[in-house]
Amino acid sequence: MASIALSRVTKSYGGQSVINGVDLDIHDGEFLTLVGPSGCGKSTTLRIIAGLETQTAGDVSIDGSLVNETRPSLRDLAMVFQSYALYPHLTVRQNLITPLRLRDLNFWERFPLLGHLVPSRRAKMAQIEKEVQLVSETLKIEPLLARKPGQLSGGQRQRVALGRAMVRNPAAFLMDEPLSNLDASLRVHMRAELSALHKKLKTTFVYVTHDQAEALTMSDRIAVMMDGDLLQLGSPEEVYQNPQDIRVAEFIGSPKMNILPGYCDELGNITCAGFSLDGTLEIPSPGPVSVGFRPEHLTLTEPNADQSLAGKLTYKENLGSDVFFHITQEGIEGSIIIRAQPLISTPQQPGDIIHCTPVPGKPLVFGPDGQRLDFKALAQSGTSS
Ligand SMILES: Nc1ncnc2c1ncn2[C@@H]1O[C@H](COP(=O)(O)OP(=O)(O)OP(=O)(O)O)[C@@H](O)[C@H]1O
Ligand SMILES: [Mg+2]
Repeated sequence: MASIALSRVTKSYGGQSVINGVDLDIHDGEFLTLVGPSGCGKSTTLRIIAGLETQTAGDVSIDGSLVNETRPSLRDLAMVFQSYALYPHLTVRQNLITPLRLRDLNFWERFPLLGHLVPSRRAKMAQIEKEVQLVSETLKIEPLLARKPGQLSGGQRQRVALGRAMVRNPAAFLMDEPLSNLDASLRVHMRAELSALHKKLKTTFVYVTHDQAEALTMSDRIAVMMDGDLLQLGSPEEVYQNPQDIRVAEFIGSPKMNILPGYCDELGNITCAGFSLDGTLEIPSPGPVSVGFRPEHLTLTEPNADQSLAGKLTYKENLGSDVFFHITQEGIEGSIIIRAQPLISTPQQPGDIIHCTPVPGKPLVFGPDGQRLDFKALAQSGTSS
């Protein structure tokens, strides 16, 4: 087990900065996910932790010790890649054994025929076999041990790749998009397996994905990265309910949060899409603001309801358990999405004008710089967080 700390880590390629001073404390035993769009610097950050890439500036520590100068093989971390990186010509058993042979056997013990004559080899190989057996049982890959990677499904290959990392019993696992080659249903299944594995091993997992759903479902904490910056670090609930930056608000959640242009007056009252929000900004920020509504925080209302947002229904997206209403309003770019229950959603048809109101206390307000502003709902039920 290990804690990992990044302190003001930067990385530049040819003068172009791709990591801009990241501070990150990963707790011992936690499942931390680095999430963000393609090119934001997730893999680079993970490779810097692994020692496969050298940071331009800043420090990396493992369990409180600086490892800036420590070779990857001595950091006691295991990396699992998207490509699995299995040896195609070796069986699953040999794939699992190889990292242990390299770690545990000395030069003479590894020698093809002569090695068998070295007395210490037998005990070491027995121990290695035992560890491989244990990991195979945990990952349920025992029936596959004699096969080669080419004879396995994507999910099975993924399990073997995990197994190869596990046999080394590392202080932490670093995983770079390990599920992205799997089809959608297997990916969902493997999420549950990885979560269960983490609970069982109680080892630090640092997981990289661009898939916000993966990040939300598996992690203890999520670090949202964008353009080389770490924008927010928090539990899935915090990041979802209480985004501090408009880019985090838009990235986390599916369908995306609706962001509408609004206006704040001198007193902190906000108007948006033709209606007034039920509350004020703690510190008025007169001028344009952006107001965010999650689809589930808009409720369909009667046409004559006060303070409602009206728009033309363009599309009804029925997913069975939920129906998403896509509405457009003149002067507002794109559609506004409302989540509704199938039962209450039947009468409205595309072309109809429909109305909705925000759930009190739920709208999120962002300033022109994209930073979250403190909006207090009128009911005094606390801030909008
Ligand atoms: N060896 C390199 N030389 C130059 N630029 C690089 C190099 N490696 C990465 N980059 C750049 O650094 C940025 C971050 O890359 P990185 O691979 O960390 O992104 P990522 O968040 O993992 O993206 P993805 O989700 O697509 O894997 C990108 O703009 C990329 O083009
Ligand atoms: Mg990457």
